[in-house]
Amino acid sequence: MPKTLNRETVRAAKADIEIFARDLVGAPLFDYQLDAARNPSDITVLNAGRQVGKSTLMAMCALHRAFAQPGSMVLILSAGESAAKTMLSRVAELMRGTILEASTVEDLKDRIVLTTGSTIRCLPASERAVRGESVDLLILDEAAKQPADMWSAAAWTTVARPGSRVIMASTPWSQNHWFHRAYIAGQAKRDGYYSYHWPSTTSPLMNTERLEQLRATMTTHQYNAEVLAEWSEDVGAYFSTAELDACVADYTLTPPDKAYGQLAVAGLDWGRVHDAQAVTLLAALDDDELNKATHPEETIYYIPWLENHFNMRYSDFQQRILDIAKGYELRHIVSELNGPGNPATEQLSDLLRRNRHVTKGQSWIAGVNTTNRGKQNAFGMLKLLVQQGRIVLPREPDLLSQLHSLTYERTDSGQMRIAVPDIAGHDDAAMSLAQCMSTIGNNTLYREDNPRPRKDTILTTPGGTRIHQTPRALNNWYAFGRARVHDRYNKW
Ligand SMILES: Nc1ncnc2c1ncn2[C@@H]1O[C@H](COP(=O)(O)OP(=O)(O)OP(=O)(O)O)[C@@H](O)[C@H]1O
Ligand SMILES: [Mg+2]
Repeated sequence: MPKTLNRETVRAAKADIEIFARDLVGAPLFDYQLDAARNPSDITVLNAGRQVGKSTLMAMCALHRAFAQPGSMVLILSAGESAAKTMLSRVAELMRGTILEASTVEDLKDRIVLTTGSTIRCLPASERAVRGESVDLLILDEAAKQPADMWSAAAWTTVARPGSRVIMASTPWSQNHWFHRAYIAGQAKRDGYYSYHWPSTTSPLMNTERLEQLRATMTTHQYNAEVLAEWSEDVGAYFSTAELDACVADYTLTPPDKAYGQLAVAGLDWGRVHDAQAVTLLAALDDDELNKATHPEETIYYIPWLENHFNMRYSDFQQRILDIAKGYELRHIVSELNGPGNPATEQLSDLLRRNRHVTKGQSWIAGVNTTNRGKQNAFGMLKLLVQQGRIVLPREPDLLSQLHSLTYERTDSGQMRIAVPDIAGHDDAAMSLAQCMSTIGNNTLYREDNPRPRKDTILTTPGGTRIHQTPRALNNWYAFGRARVHDRYNKW
Protein backbone atom coordinates (compact mmCIF):
# COMPACT_ATOMS: atom_id res chain seq x y z
CA MET A 1 0.00 0.00 0.00
CA PRO A 2 1.20 3.50 -0.74
CA LYS A 3 3.22 5.26 1.88
CA THR A 4 2.65 8.94 2.50
CA LEU A 5 2.11 10.36 -0.89
CA ASN A 6 3.76 13.68 -0.85
CA ARG A 7 4.84 15.54 -3.91
CA GLU A 8 8.34 14.22 -3.41
CA THR A 9 7.22 10.58 -3.62
CA VAL A 10 5.23 11.30 -6.76
CA ARG A 11 8.20 12.98 -8.39
CA ALA A 12 10.47 10.11 -7.40
CA ALA A 13 7.93 7.58 -8.69
CA LYS A 14 7.82 9.31 -12.04
CA ALA A 15 11.58 9.17 -12.31
CA ASP A 16 12.05 5.62 -11.13
CA ILE A 17 9.92 2.56 -11.75
CA GLU A 18 11.29 0.88 -8.63
CA ILE A 19 9.83 3.58 -6.40
CA PHE A 20 6.68 3.70 -8.51
CA ALA A 21 6.07 -0.03 -8.16
CA ARG A 22 6.93 -0.21 -4.50
CA ASP A 23 5.56 3.03 -3.04
CA LEU A 24 2.80 4.00 -5.38
CA VAL A 25 1.40 0.73 -6.66
CA GLY A 26 2.47 -1.32 -3.67
CA ALA A 27 3.75 -4.23 -5.79
CA PRO A 28 7.54 -4.14 -5.81
CA LEU A 29 9.36 -5.64 -8.77
CA PHE A 30 12.13 -8.18 -8.44
CA ASP A 31 15.67 -7.02 -9.24
CA TYR A 32 15.83 -8.80 -12.59
CA GLN A 33 12.52 -7.22 -13.56
CA LEU A 34 13.80 -3.79 -12.56
CA ASP A 35 16.92 -4.32 -14.57
CA ALA A 36 14.90 -4.97 -17.73
CA ALA A 37 12.43 -2.19 -16.96
CA ARG A 38 15.25 0.35 -16.73
CA ASN A 39 17.05 -0.85 -19.82
CA PRO A 40 17.65 2.15 -22.07
CA SER A 41 17.69 0.24 -25.39
CA ASP A 42 15.02 0.84 -27.99
CA ILE A 43 13.92 -2.76 -28.07
CA THR A 44 14.09 -5.02 -25.05
CA VAL A 45 13.65 -8.74 -25.69
CA LEU A 46 12.73 -11.01 -22.80
CA ASN A 47 13.19 -14.65 -23.66
CA ALA A 48 11.83 -16.24 -20.54
CA GLY A 49 10.35 -19.35 -19.02
CA ARG A 50 6.80 -19.72 -17.85
CA GLN A 51 5.62 -17.89 -14.77
CA VAL A 52 8.77 -15.87 -14.33
CA GLY A 53 6.86 -12.60 -14.17
CA LYS A 54 6.86 -11.33 -17.76
CA SER A 55 3.28 -10.14 -17.87
CA THR A 56 3.46 -8.55 -14.44
CA LEU A 57 6.54 -6.63 -15.46
CA MET A 58 4.99 -5.48 -18.69
CA ALA A 59 1.77 -4.34 -17.03
CA MET A 60 3.89 -2.35 -14.58
CA CYS A 61 5.98 -0.80 -17.35
CA ALA A 62 2.79 0.19 -19.16
CA LEU A 63 1.35 1.81 -16.10
CA HIS A 64 4.55 3.60 -15.24
CA ARG A 65 4.86 5.10 -18.68
CA ALA A 66 1.24 6.25 -18.65
CA PHE A 67 1.72 7.81 -15.25
CA ALA A 68 5.15 9.33 -15.71
CA GLN A 69 4.72 10.75 -19.16
CA PRO A 70 1.44 12.59 -19.59
CA GLY A 71 -0.28 12.17 -22.91
CA SER A 72 1.53 9.00 -23.82
CA MET A 73 0.13 6.12 -25.76
CA VAL A 74 0.86 2.60 -24.59
CA LEU A 75 -0.14 -0.36 -26.71
CA ILE A 76 0.00 -3.91 -25.41
CA LEU A 77 -0.44 -6.67 -27.98
CA SER A 78 -1.16 -10.15 -26.74
CA ALA A 79 -1.42 -13.47 -28.54
CA GLY A 80 -5.16 -13.83 -28.72
CA GLU A 81 -8.34 -12.17 -27.54
CA SER A 82 -8.51 -13.63 -24.04
CA ALA A 83 -4.84 -12.92 -23.34
CA ALA A 84 -5.47 -9.28 -24.29
CA LYS A 85 -8.41 -9.09 -21.89
CA THR A 86 -6.36 -10.64 -19.11
CA MET A 87 -3.63 -8.11 -19.71
CA LEU A 88 -6.07 -5.22 -19.38
CA SER A 89 -7.45 -6.59 -16.14
CA ARG A 90 -3.90 -7.01 -14.84
CA VAL A 91 -3.23 -3.36 -15.43
CA ALA A 92 -6.52 -2.47 -13.76
CA GLU A 93 -5.64 -4.78 -10.88
CA LEU A 94 -2.35 -2.99 -10.29
CA MET A 95 -4.17 0.32 -10.13
CA ARG A 96 -6.81 -0.82 -7.67
CA GLY A 97 -6.66 0.96 -4.35
CA THR A 98 -3.92 3.35 -5.45
CA ILE A 99 -4.08 7.01 -6.39
CA LEU A 100 -3.99 5.84 -9.96
CA GLU A 101 -7.45 4.38 -9.68
CA ALA A 102 -8.90 7.80 -8.98
CA SER A 103 -7.14 9.14 -11.99
CA THR A 104 -8.87 6.78 -14.38
CA VAL A 105 -11.17 8.70 -16.66
CA GLU A 106 -12.22 5.84 -18.85
CA ASP A 107 -12.12 2.13 -18.31
CA LEU A 108 -13.33 0.67 -21.54
CA LYS A 109 -13.25 -2.85 -22.91
CA ASP A 110 -9.86 -2.48 -24.53
CA ARG A 111 -8.31 0.58 -22.93
CA ILE A 112 -7.73 2.58 -19.79
CA VAL A 113 -7.48 6.34 -20.05
CA LEU A 114 -5.84 8.28 -17.22
CA THR A 115 -6.20 11.90 -16.14
CA THR A 116 -2.62 12.33 -17.28
CA GLY A 117 -4.07 12.07 -20.77
CA SER A 118 -2.28 8.78 -21.32
CA THR A 119 -3.97 5.73 -22.77
CA ILE A 120 -3.15 2.06 -22.28
CA ARG A 121 -4.70 -0.16 -24.95
CA CYS A 122 -4.68 -3.93 -24.84
CA LEU A 123 -5.43 -5.70 -28.10
CA PRO A 124 -4.96 -9.12 -29.62
CA ALA A 125 -2.01 -8.99 -32.01
CA SER A 126 -3.08 -8.40 -35.59
CA GLU A 127 -1.95 -6.16 -38.35
CA ARG A 128 -5.20 -4.25 -38.11
CA ALA A 129 -4.54 -3.43 -34.47
CA VAL A 130 -1.42 -1.48 -35.31
CA ARG A 131 -2.36 0.08 -38.63
CA GLY A 132 -2.10 3.85 -38.31
CA GLU A 133 -1.20 3.74 -34.63
CA SER A 134 1.58 5.81 -33.15
CA VAL A 135 2.75 4.71 -29.73
CA ASP A 136 5.33 5.60 -27.07
CA LEU A 137 5.54 2.20 -25.50
CA LEU A 138 4.80 -0.92 -27.48
CA ILE A 139 4.56 -4.16 -25.55
CA LEU A 140 4.33 -7.58 -27.16
CA ASP A 141 3.38 -10.38 -24.78
CA GLU A 142 3.86 -14.02 -25.84
CA ALA A 143 5.54 -12.57 -28.90
CA ALA A 144 6.68 -15.93 -30.30
CA LYS A 145 3.04 -16.99 -30.67
CA GLN A 146 2.03 -13.84 -32.54
CA PRO A 147 1.49 -13.76 -36.31
CA ALA A 148 4.52 -14.05 -38.56
CA ASP A 149 4.16 -10.57 -39.99
CA MET A 150 3.31 -8.91 -36.69
CA TRP A 151 6.65 -7.36 -35.92
CA SER A 152 7.21 -5.85 -39.34
CA ALA A 153 3.80 -4.21 -39.03
CA ALA A 154 4.12 -3.20 -35.37
CA ALA A 155 7.62 -1.75 -35.62
CA TRP A 156 6.19 1.18 -37.58
CA THR A 157 4.15 2.38 -34.65
CA THR A 158 7.19 3.65 -32.77
CA VAL A 159 9.45 4.97 -35.50
CA ALA A 160 8.05 8.50 -35.46
CA ARG A 161 7.98 8.82 -31.68
CA PRO A 162 11.12 10.15 -30.05
CA GLY A 163 11.93 8.33 -26.85
CA SER A 164 9.63 5.47 -27.71
CA ARG A 165 10.38 1.97 -26.58
CA VAL A 166 9.46 -1.62 -27.37
CA ILE A 167 9.38 -4.52 -24.92
CA MET A 168 8.72 -7.99 -26.28
CA ALA A 169 8.54 -11.09 -24.15
CA SER A 170 7.86 -14.74 -24.75
CA THR A 171 8.72 -18.31 -23.99
CA PRO A 172 10.59 -19.75 -26.98
CA TRP A 173 8.60 -21.34 -29.76
CA SER A 174 9.62 -21.72 -33.38
CA GLN A 175 13.08 -20.66 -34.44
CA ASN A 176 11.63 -19.57 -37.72
CA HIS A 177 9.95 -16.53 -36.21
CA TRP A 178 10.79 -12.88 -35.76
CA PHE A 179 10.89 -13.23 -31.99
CA HIS A 180 13.81 -15.61 -32.31
CA ARG A 181 15.58 -13.25 -34.71
CA ALA A 182 14.95 -10.34 -32.34
CA TYR A 183 16.40 -12.34 -29.47
CA ILE A 184 19.52 -13.13 -31.46
CA ALA A 185 19.91 -9.46 -32.42
CA GLY A 186 19.56 -8.50 -28.77
CA GLN A 187 22.17 -10.99 -27.68
CA ALA A 188 24.59 -9.25 -30.02
CA LYS A 189 23.22 -5.86 -28.86
CA ARG A 190 22.67 -4.98 -32.51
CA ASP A 191 20.37 -2.33 -33.98
CA GLY A 192 19.02 -1.10 -30.66
CA TYR A 193 18.01 -4.56 -29.46
CA TYR A 194 18.93 -5.88 -26.02
CA SER A 195 18.06 -9.40 -24.85
CA TYR A 196 17.51 -11.05 -21.51
CA HIS A 197 17.32 -14.75 -20.84
CA TRP A 198 15.33 -15.76 -17.79
CA PRO A 199 14.67 -19.43 -17.06
CA SER A 200 11.61 -19.93 -14.86
CA THR A 201 13.86 -20.45 -11.85
CA THR A 202 14.94 -16.81 -12.05
CA SER A 203 11.82 -15.99 -10.09
CA PRO A 204 12.27 -16.35 -6.34
CA LEU A 205 8.67 -17.56 -6.21
CA MET A 206 9.41 -20.68 -8.23
CA ASN A 207 8.80 -23.88 -6.35
CA THR A 208 11.63 -26.09 -7.55
CA GLU A 209 10.09 -29.23 -6.16
CA ARG A 210 6.89 -28.61 -8.04
CA LEU A 211 8.95 -27.86 -11.12
CA GLU A 212 10.64 -31.24 -10.88
CA GLN A 213 7.25 -32.91 -10.72
CA LEU A 214 6.17 -30.99 -13.77
CA ARG A 215 9.28 -32.08 -15.57
CA ALA A 216 8.12 -35.67 -15.39
CA THR A 217 5.01 -34.78 -17.33
CA MET A 218 6.78 -32.87 -20.07
CA THR A 219 8.83 -33.81 -23.06
CA THR A 220 12.43 -32.61 -23.03
CA HIS A 221 11.51 -30.25 -25.81
CA GLN A 222 8.72 -28.69 -23.76
CA TYR A 223 10.84 -28.47 -20.64
CA ASN A 224 13.67 -26.82 -22.52
CA ALA A 225 11.36 -24.24 -23.97
CA GLU A 226 8.89 -23.56 -21.18
CA VAL A 227 11.13 -23.80 -18.16
CA LEU A 228 14.70 -23.28 -19.35
CA ALA A 229 13.64 -20.82 -22.05
CA GLU A 230 15.95 -22.47 -24.50
CA TRP A 231 15.32 -23.00 -28.14
CA SER A 232 15.81 -26.52 -29.25
CA GLU A 233 15.67 -27.47 -32.87
CA ASP A 234 12.18 -27.63 -34.28
CA VAL A 235 13.07 -30.87 -35.92
CA GLY A 236 14.97 -33.28 -33.80
CA ALA A 237 15.29 -36.70 -32.34
CA TYR A 238 12.24 -37.53 -30.27
CA PHE A 239 14.26 -39.77 -27.96
CA SER A 240 17.88 -39.02 -27.25
CA THR A 241 20.30 -41.94 -27.32
CA ALA A 242 21.17 -41.36 -23.69
CA GLU A 243 17.52 -41.40 -22.70
CA LEU A 244 16.92 -44.72 -24.43
CA ASP A 245 20.15 -46.29 -23.21
CA ALA A 246 19.16 -45.50 -19.66
CA CYS A 247 16.25 -47.95 -20.05
CA VAL A 248 18.05 -50.90 -21.57
CA ALA A 249 18.96 -54.10 -19.75
CA ASP A 250 20.27 -57.37 -21.16
CA TYR A 251 17.41 -59.43 -19.86
CA THR A 252 16.13 -62.57 -21.51
CA LEU A 253 12.98 -62.45 -23.61
CA THR A 254 10.37 -65.05 -22.80
CA PRO A 255 9.15 -66.96 -25.87
CA PRO A 256 5.39 -67.64 -25.90
CA ASP A 257 5.84 -71.38 -25.26
CA LYS A 258 7.68 -70.51 -22.02
CA ALA A 259 5.23 -67.82 -20.91
CA TYR A 260 2.77 -70.15 -19.18
CA GLY A 261 -0.07 -67.71 -19.23
CA GLN A 262 1.76 -64.56 -18.09
CA LEU A 263 -0.27 -61.42 -18.63
CA ALA A 264 0.67 -58.97 -21.37
CA VAL A 265 -0.81 -56.67 -23.98
CA ALA A 266 0.16 -56.79 -27.64
CA GLY A 267 0.57 -54.02 -30.20
CA LEU A 268 0.39 -54.91 -33.88
CA ASP A 269 1.67 -53.13 -36.93
CA TRP A 270 0.65 -54.63 -40.25
CA GLY A 271 3.38 -54.13 -42.80
CA ARG A 272 2.84 -52.39 -46.06
CA VAL A 273 5.20 -52.56 -48.97
CA HIS A 274 8.49 -52.03 -47.19
CA ASP A 275 7.65 -52.62 -43.58
CA ALA A 276 7.66 -55.77 -41.59
CA GLN A 277 4.72 -57.16 -39.71
CA ALA A 278 5.50 -56.46 -36.12
CA VAL A 279 4.10 -57.49 -32.79
CA THR A 280 5.41 -56.19 -29.48
CA LEU A 281 4.26 -57.36 -26.08
CA LEU A 282 4.22 -55.15 -23.04
CA ALA A 283 3.91 -56.54 -19.52
CA ALA A 284 3.93 -55.16 -16.01
CA LEU A 285 7.08 -56.19 -14.20
CA ASP A 286 6.85 -58.41 -11.17
CA ASP A 287 10.02 -57.06 -9.62
CA ASP A 288 9.78 -58.63 -6.15
CA GLU A 289 9.94 -55.11 -4.74
CA LEU A 290 13.36 -54.49 -6.27
CA ASN A 291 12.25 -51.02 -7.28
CA LYS A 292 10.11 -50.28 -4.31
CA ALA A 293 12.39 -47.50 -3.09
CA THR A 294 12.33 -45.55 -6.33
CA HIS A 295 8.85 -46.49 -7.49
CA PRO A 296 6.77 -47.27 -4.44
CA GLU A 297 3.45 -47.11 -6.19
CA GLU A 298 3.98 -47.09 -9.90
CA THR A 299 3.95 -50.04 -12.19
CA ILE A 300 7.12 -50.70 -14.13
CA TYR A 301 6.73 -52.17 -17.59
CA TYR A 302 8.95 -54.26 -19.82
CA ILE A 303 8.82 -55.95 -23.16
CA PRO A 304 8.64 -59.71 -22.61
CA TRP A 305 8.55 -60.61 -26.29
CA LEU A 306 8.61 -59.06 -29.75
CA GLU A 307 8.65 -60.31 -33.34
CA ASN A 308 9.28 -58.74 -36.72
CA HIS A 309 8.55 -60.58 -39.92
CA PHE A 310 9.50 -59.39 -43.35
CA ASN A 311 7.62 -60.68 -46.36
CA MET A 312 5.23 -62.71 -44.29
CA ARG A 313 1.69 -63.27 -45.46
CA TYR A 314 -1.04 -61.74 -43.33
CA SER A 315 -2.56 -65.14 -42.65
CA ASP A 316 0.77 -66.46 -41.38
CA PHE A 317 1.21 -63.43 -39.18
CA GLN A 318 -2.29 -63.93 -37.77
CA GLN A 319 -1.31 -67.50 -37.01
CA ARG A 320 1.76 -66.20 -35.15
CA ILE A 321 -0.44 -63.99 -33.00
CA LEU A 322 -2.61 -66.99 -32.21
CA ASP A 323 0.52 -68.92 -31.18
CA ILE A 324 1.53 -66.06 -28.92
CA ALA A 325 -1.96 -66.00 -27.41
CA LYS A 326 -1.58 -69.69 -26.60
CA GLY A 327 1.39 -68.84 -24.39
CA TYR A 328 0.64 -65.38 -23.08
CA GLU A 329 -2.66 -64.19 -21.74
CA LEU A 330 -3.08 -61.18 -24.02
CA ARG A 331 -5.36 -58.82 -22.16
CA HIS A 332 -5.54 -56.38 -25.06
CA ILE A 333 -4.47 -56.60 -28.64
CA VAL A 334 -4.15 -53.14 -30.11
CA SER A 335 -4.11 -53.38 -33.84
CA GLU A 336 -3.55 -50.76 -36.49
CA LEU A 337 -6.49 -50.35 -38.84
CA ASN A 338 -4.88 -48.15 -41.48
CA GLY A 339 -4.26 -49.67 -44.90
CA PRO A 340 -4.34 -53.46 -44.84
CA GLY A 341 -4.86 -53.41 -41.09
CA ASN A 342 -8.63 -53.25 -41.21
CA PRO A 343 -9.43 -56.58 -42.91
CA ALA A 344 -6.39 -58.18 -41.30
CA THR A 345 -7.63 -57.19 -37.84
CA GLU A 346 -11.09 -58.58 -38.59
CA GLN A 347 -9.64 -61.89 -39.68
CA LEU A 348 -7.41 -62.04 -36.62
CA SER A 349 -10.38 -61.38 -34.42
CA ASP A 350 -12.21 -64.27 -36.06
CA LEU A 351 -9.26 -66.59 -35.77
CA LEU A 352 -8.87 -65.89 -32.06
CA ARG A 353 -12.56 -66.35 -31.44
CA ARG A 354 -12.58 -69.72 -33.16
CA ASN A 355 -9.58 -70.78 -31.10
CA ARG A 356 -10.57 -69.41 -27.75
CA HIS A 357 -10.49 -72.90 -26.21
CA VAL A 358 -6.72 -73.02 -26.74
CA THR A 359 -5.71 -69.43 -25.95
CA LYS A 360 -4.85 -68.28 -22.46
CA GLY A 361 -7.81 -66.11 -21.65
CA GLN A 362 -9.66 -63.85 -24.00
CA SER A 363 -8.31 -60.74 -25.60
CA TRP A 364 -9.96 -57.43 -26.21
CA ILE A 365 -9.10 -56.47 -29.73
CA ALA A 366 -8.91 -52.74 -30.14
CA GLY A 367 -8.59 -51.39 -33.65
CA VAL A 368 -6.84 -48.08 -33.94
CA ASN A 369 -6.61 -45.64 -36.79
CA THR A 370 -3.16 -44.17 -36.47
CA THR A 371 -3.46 -40.43 -36.44
CA ASN A 372 -0.96 -37.73 -35.72
CA ARG A 373 -2.59 -37.06 -32.38
CA GLY A 374 -2.73 -40.73 -31.48
CA LYS A 375 0.96 -41.07 -32.24
CA GLN A 376 1.76 -38.03 -30.20
CA ASN A 377 -0.12 -39.43 -27.20
CA ALA A 378 1.31 -42.92 -27.54
CA PHE A 379 4.91 -41.82 -27.92
CA GLY A 380 4.31 -39.17 -25.28
CA MET A 381 3.33 -41.92 -22.84
CA LEU A 382 6.38 -43.93 -23.82
CA LYS A 383 8.55 -40.87 -23.32
CA LEU A 384 7.09 -40.40 -19.88
CA LEU A 385 7.84 -43.99 -18.92
CA VAL A 386 11.34 -43.68 -20.33
CA GLN A 387 12.06 -40.50 -18.43
CA GLN A 388 10.66 -41.89 -15.21
CA GLY A 389 12.65 -45.11 -15.51
CA ARG A 390 9.38 -47.03 -15.62
CA ILE A 391 10.06 -49.11 -18.68
CA VAL A 392 12.85 -51.57 -19.30
CA LEU A 393 13.75 -52.22 -22.91
CA PRO A 394 15.56 -55.28 -24.22
CA ARG A 395 18.76 -54.76 -26.17
CA GLU A 396 17.08 -55.24 -29.50
CA PRO A 397 18.94 -53.12 -32.03
CA ASP A 398 15.99 -52.86 -34.43
CA LEU A 399 13.66 -51.53 -31.82
CA LEU A 400 16.22 -49.19 -30.30
CA SER A 401 17.38 -47.75 -33.57
CA GLN A 402 13.83 -47.27 -34.74
CA LEU A 403 12.96 -45.45 -31.56
CA HIS A 404 16.05 -43.37 -31.93
CA SER A 405 15.27 -42.42 -35.52
CA LEU A 406 11.89 -41.05 -34.59
CA THR A 407 11.91 -37.36 -35.28
CA TYR A 408 9.47 -34.70 -34.39
CA GLU A 409 8.72 -31.51 -36.12
CA ARG A 410 6.35 -28.75 -35.37
CA THR A 411 3.51 -28.32 -37.77
CA ASP A 412 2.20 -24.84 -38.54
CA SER A 413 -0.67 -25.38 -36.15
CA GLY A 414 1.84 -25.86 -33.34
CA GLN A 415 1.26 -29.60 -33.13
CA MET A 416 4.06 -32.06 -33.15
CA ARG A 417 4.44 -34.58 -35.91
CA ILE A 418 6.33 -37.72 -35.07
CA ALA A 419 7.71 -39.91 -37.81
CA VAL A 420 10.61 -41.94 -39.01
CA PRO A 421 12.19 -40.18 -41.96
CA ASP A 422 12.11 -42.38 -45.07
CA ILE A 423 15.87 -42.56 -45.28
CA ALA A 424 16.11 -43.88 -41.73
CA GLY A 425 14.12 -47.01 -42.54
CA HIS A 426 11.28 -48.79 -40.81
CA ASP A 427 9.12 -47.88 -37.89
CA ASP A 428 7.15 -51.11 -37.47
CA ALA A 429 8.72 -52.19 -34.18
CA ALA A 430 8.46 -48.70 -32.72
CA MET A 431 4.86 -48.39 -33.87
CA SER A 432 3.82 -51.74 -32.46
CA LEU A 433 5.30 -50.74 -29.11
CA ALA A 434 3.50 -47.41 -29.32
CA GLN A 435 0.19 -49.24 -29.85
CA CYS A 436 0.64 -50.89 -26.45
CA MET A 437 0.90 -47.49 -24.76
CA SER A 438 -2.80 -46.77 -25.12
CA THR A 439 -3.57 -49.54 -22.63
CA ILE A 440 -1.57 -48.08 -19.80
CA GLY A 441 -3.84 -46.79 -17.12
CA ASN A 442 -2.93 -44.64 -14.20
CA ASN A 443 -3.83 -47.17 -11.55
CA THR A 444 -1.39 -47.42 -8.73
CA LEU A 445 0.50 -50.62 -8.44
CA TYR A 446 -0.91 -53.44 -6.45
CA ARG A 447 1.94 -55.39 -4.87
CA GLU A 448 1.59 -58.81 -3.39
CA ASP A 449 1.71 -58.92 0.37
CA ASN A 450 4.26 -61.69 0.62
CA PRO A 451 6.64 -61.59 -2.28
CA ARG A 452 8.67 -64.74 -2.73
CA PRO A 453 12.18 -63.57 -3.56
CA ARG A 454 13.55 -65.37 -6.59
CA LYS A 455 16.98 -66.78 -7.12
CA ASP A 456 17.85 -65.03 -10.33
CA THR A 457 20.52 -62.59 -11.40
CA ILE A 458 19.43 -59.01 -10.90
CA LEU A 459 20.22 -56.52 -13.64
CA THR A 460 20.16 -52.76 -13.37
CA THR A 461 19.56 -50.38 -16.24
CA PRO A 462 21.90 -47.37 -16.51
CA GLY A 463 18.91 -45.37 -15.32
CA GLY A 464 18.77 -47.43 -12.13
CA THR A 465 15.71 -49.63 -12.69
CA ARG A 466 16.18 -53.21 -11.56
CA ILE A 467 14.93 -56.29 -13.33
CA HIS A 468 15.58 -60.02 -13.11
CA GLN A 469 17.63 -61.73 -15.79
CA THR A 470 14.50 -63.71 -16.62
CA PRO A 471 11.75 -61.27 -15.78
CA ARG A 472 8.26 -62.31 -14.83
CA ALA A 473 5.04 -60.47 -15.53
CA LEU A 474 2.78 -59.21 -12.83
CA ASN A 475 -0.47 -61.06 -13.41
CA ASN A 476 -2.57 -58.11 -12.48
CA TRP A 477 -5.21 -56.80 -14.82
CA TYR A 478 -5.11 -53.43 -13.12
CA ALA A 479 -1.67 -52.79 -14.56
CA PHE A 480 -3.53 -52.01 -17.73
CA GLY A 481 -6.44 -49.75 -18.34
CA ARG A 482 -8.85 -50.04 -21.14
CA ALA A 483 -7.33 -49.47 -24.56
CA ARG A 484 -8.10 -45.86 -25.24
CA VAL A 485 -8.37 -46.36 -28.94
CA HIS A 486 -11.55 -48.13 -29.81
CA ASP A 487 -14.36 -46.14 -31.37
CA ARG A 488 -16.60 -46.99 -28.47
CA TYR A 489 -14.14 -45.73 -25.91
CA ASN A 490 -12.69 -42.31 -25.55
CA LYS A 491 -10.37 -42.11 -28.46
CA TRP A 492 -6.79 -41.08 -28.20
N1 LIG B 1 7.58 -8.72 -8.66
C1 LIG B 1 6.73 -9.66 -8.28
N2 LIG B 1 6.41 -9.79 -6.97
C2 LIG B 1 5.57 -10.75 -6.55
N3 LIG B 1 4.98 -11.63 -7.38
C3 LIG B 1 5.25 -11.54 -8.69
C4 LIG B 1 6.14 -10.56 -9.22
N4 LIG B 1 6.21 -10.74 -10.55
C5 LIG B 1 5.41 -11.77 -10.85
N5 LIG B 1 4.83 -12.26 -9.74
C6 LIG B 1 3.90 -13.39 -9.64
O1 LIG B 1 4.43 -14.49 -10.36
C7 LIG B 1 3.42 -15.18 -11.06
C8 LIG B 1 3.73 -15.20 -12.53
O2 LIG B 1 3.72 -13.90 -13.02
P1 LIG B 1 3.33 -13.56 -14.51
O3 LIG B 1 1.98 -14.02 -14.85
O4 LIG B 1 3.64 -12.13 -14.70
O5 LIG B 1 4.41 -14.44 -15.25
P2 LIG B 1 4.51 -14.80 -16.81
O6 LIG B 1 5.96 -14.99 -17.05
O7 LIG B 1 3.79 -13.81 -17.63
O8 LIG B 1 3.77 -16.19 -16.81
P3 LIG B 1 3.21 -17.01 -18.09
O9 LIG B 1 4.41 -17.65 -18.69
O10 LIG B 1 2.28 -18.00 -17.49
O11 LIG B 1 2.55 -16.01 -18.99
C9 LIG B 1 2.13 -14.44 -10.75
O12 LIG B 1 1.49 -15.11 -9.70
C10 LIG B 1 2.60 -13.08 -10.31
O13 LIG B 1 1.70 -12.48 -9.42
MG1 LIG C 1 2.30 -14.05 -19.12
